[in-house]
Amino acid sequence: MTLTPPATTEGTAADAAPVVQVRDLHKSFGDNLVLRGIELDVTPGEVVCVIGPSGSGKSTLLRCVNQLESATSGTIRVLGTEITDPDINIDAVRQHVGMVFQQFNLFTHQTVLENCTVAQRKVLGRSKAEATKVALHNLERVGLADRGSAHPTQLSGGQQQRVAIARALSMDPSIMLFDEPTSALDPELVGDVLSVMRDLAQQGMTMIVVTHEMAFAREVADRVVFMDGGVVVESGPPAQVIGDPQEPRTRAFLDRVLNPTHTDEGPTAV
Ligand SMILES: Nc1ncnc2c1ncn2[C@@H]1O[C@H](COP(=O)(O)OP(=O)(O)OP(=O)(O)O)[C@@H](O)[C@H]1O
Ligand SMILES: [Mg+2]
Repeated sequence: MTLTPPATTEGTAADAAPVVQVRDLHKSFGDNLVLRGIELDVTPGEVVCVIGPSGSGKSTLLRCVNQLESATSGTIRVLGTEITDPDINIDAVRQHVGMVFQQFNLFTHQTVLENCTVAQRKVLGRSKAEATKVALHNLERVGLADRGSAHPTQLSGGQQQRVAIARALSMDPSIMLFDEPTSALDPELVGDVLSVMRDLAQQGMTMIVVTHEMAFAREVADRVVFMDGGVVVESGPPAQVIGDPQEPRTRAFLDRVLNPTHTDEGPTAV
């Protein structure tokens, strides 16, 4: 299967065919209905930040978009191809959808360079020389061109996460999905990773970012999507959704996130 990126030479990004189109997506785990009719379009070059409370289904949504989870019902299209079709070639889909996880998921027995070349060689069939060239270019983009021979355990968490970003970029994805990429990092390492993501956004990468970093979402997102209980409660520009939320559930969530020491509602449940 070949997925062809949509033409972007005509019209504005808002007119362009969506890179990802989610329609009436439902996902259950046993009796637990986790996604209850998600609708989402992401246009070329758009950065969508997804926010929402724990358990609202944010990770499940991303995992459905790259088919780590299969949808219970509804459709997801990537570059116009329906990936929820059971006959789809999953590898061809994943090749277009880069994913960065909270816990990096690097191979610790391989060097940084090997981590960034193995899938290029296996999935894309690139030669060692070509894969190395692409990997070094992407390691340069994340500021780690000189660490190719290191092993992941010799790097800080922030550096490991930047390797994971370079690895995903080396597959030339049409969209990058980030699932709380800075949540596992020491606070002083968060900035470098966000700065790499900000650069990617400025270079026109299409991105869906699940994050609790509201300052980042405000600055970088074209659109913020607030999820709760498996539905999109509110969606719009960051100045609206974060700055002036219309829905009570959005307001309550932001109040908790932006004022974590605020205890009007009694002790916080753990
Ligand atoms: N593989 C799975 N098997 C069973 N239940 C699952 C599975 N993955 C997720 N769930 C359930 O789906 C619900 C949504 O989980 P999900 O991880 O998508 O939430 P989230 O919004 O990403 O939360 P968090 O902010 O804590 O990461 C939770 O109730 C969770 O227990
Ligand atoms: Mg999650």
